[in-house]
Amino acid sequence: MVIIKRPDEIEKIRKSNIIVAEILKELKNIAEPGITTKQLDDHAENMALAKKARPAFKGYHGYPFSLCASVNDVVVHGMPSNRVLVAGDIISLDFGIFYDGFYGDAAITVPVGDVSDEARKLMKCTEDALYQAIKNAVPGNRLGDISASCQERVEQDGYSVVRDYVGHGIGKSLHEDPQVPNYGIKGRGLELKEGMVLSIEPMVNGGTYKVKLLDDGWTVLTEDGSLSAHFEHTVAITRSGPDILSCL
Ligand code: MF3
Ligand code: CO
Repeated sequence: MVIIKRPDEIEKIRKSNIIVAEILKELKNIAEPGITTKQLDDHAENMALAKKARPAFKGYHGYPFSLCASVNDVVVHGMPSNRVLVAGDIISLDFGIFYDGFYGDAAITVPVGDVSDEARKLMKCTEDALYQAIKNAVPGNRLGDISASCQERVEQDGYSVVRDYVGHGIGKSLHEDPQVPNYGIKGRGLELKEGMVLSIEPMVNGGTYKVKLLDDGWTVLTEDGSLSAHFEHTVAITRSGPDILSCL
């Protein structure tokens, strides 16, 4: 069941998402060579608590950390560890919080020091694909219009869209209906309506779209070891167009 949000509820979801965006901005600044992913997790958690927000991922289906920190060929759900970031890495920072009854959820992929042109291109393509998808988040469109436009942008550069993980509705729960695939067919699927709020989150691989899950039950890697990037925004569908709630 897709839950439609009132304008006052959308403003509360915006508040939660702005907290997430502020924290991601800080994390981006400190994601430099020499820092560990666990230090980033500690920072994220402390900044959230300082803003009276509860980290949303910690304890979610038993996930033990506040941040998902996915380096290089890690697609999503990378667990913070004593891994030290080095120049040339790319890292996806995925963070969510609960504040005043509503969830916020967003992700960015950032370069650590200088990175290869190929890594840069993959990140840009993934972010472009997210904005392409967001443009289609308007009343009267179908879910497939979001999905297909995202896939089209990714494949234009010869990259591939991860199939096994998708975006989602969000509100009083972190994950609500509908599921939002990043690949699909124009004109198909659920009709988008004013008041829907979606977290759109393309995961894009340099090689095959196939992924594998590590024995820890969380870490998702590209099957072929290629790089992967991930960007996520939470977006409200309004009569005046897509309203990105997770931007500053
Ligand atoms: N942004 C991701 C999602 O929406 C992060 C979830 S991680 C988890 O699914 F630990 F909370 F599962
Ligand atoms: Co999400």
